[in-house]
Amino acid sequence: MLISNPEKNMTSIANLRKNYERAQLNEDASHANPLHQFEQWFNEAMAAQVPEPNAMTLATVSCNLRPSTRVVLIKEFDERGLVWFTNYDSRKGQELAGNPYAALQFHWVELERVVRIEGVVEKISDSESDTYFQTRPLDSRIGAWASPQSQVIPNRGVLVANAARYGVQFLLHPPRPACWGGYRLKPDIWEFWQGRKSRLHDRLRYTLQGTSNKQNELWLRERLAP
Ligand SMILES: Cc1cc2nc3c(=O)[nH]c(=O)nc-3n(C[C@H](O)[C@H](O)[C@H](O)COP(=O)(O)O)c2cc1C
Repeated sequence: MLISNPEKNMTSIANLRKNYERAQLNEDASHANPLHQFEQWFNEAMAAQVPEPNAMTLATVSCNLRPSTRVVLIKEFDERGLVWFTNYDSRKGQELAGNPYAALQFHWVELERVVRIEGVVEKISDSESDTYFQTRPLDSRIGAWASPQSQVIPNRGVLVANAARYGVQFLLHPPRPACWGGYRLKPDIWEFWQGRKSRLHDRLRYTLQGTSNKQNELWLRERLAP
């Protein structure tokens, strides 16, 4: 975009603001277990047909304490945590190998809602990754072989050539590459944010108390100032 008058443009960006009035989030009406709260909000995001409700930002931190983010797709969630799939040798994979603490964020713009989740990440089992890999469309399975994710490549032709080569090699049955699979983040902090009028937003944070067995997990629910 050509900016003819940078000063005017800055001013108009600074004036972009929206009032949030769609809903509220109260202690009384929220679930005691954050997983149930997430399930309710995720279902509402799907019912509202927000674009890509399953897209979440994943933040990792490298060994030298440099943070980075990217978007990934949630594929599963339950009391064990939230699962996504990727290349284990990618930047995120390398950062998680050095530092398993990570954060996730959903932003459902149309619902004026954000969910922030923090915790420790583990690889899921090979058999779980195999099972999911086989459900992917063929071109996605070939793509997992064709793309050395996060590596520098000389040009796009390399990807196209790789895809053609692996397509011929594996035909209809590409196996899961060893460097491709799932991660699961086990949350110990959740925050649910609901936009409200006059910037007086609702924020409920759930913090895991102790590490008792899954059935008896206790969550401290606190309201945070917006
Ligand atoms: C909507 C959306 C969904 C994405 N889903 C995934 C995903 O599930 N897994 C993945 O590895 N990359 C996904 N990507 C690409 C990542 O954002 C990112 O470019 C890639 O994983 C490389 O990140 P890294 O170099 O930090 O490891 C997605 C991108 C977008 C925009």
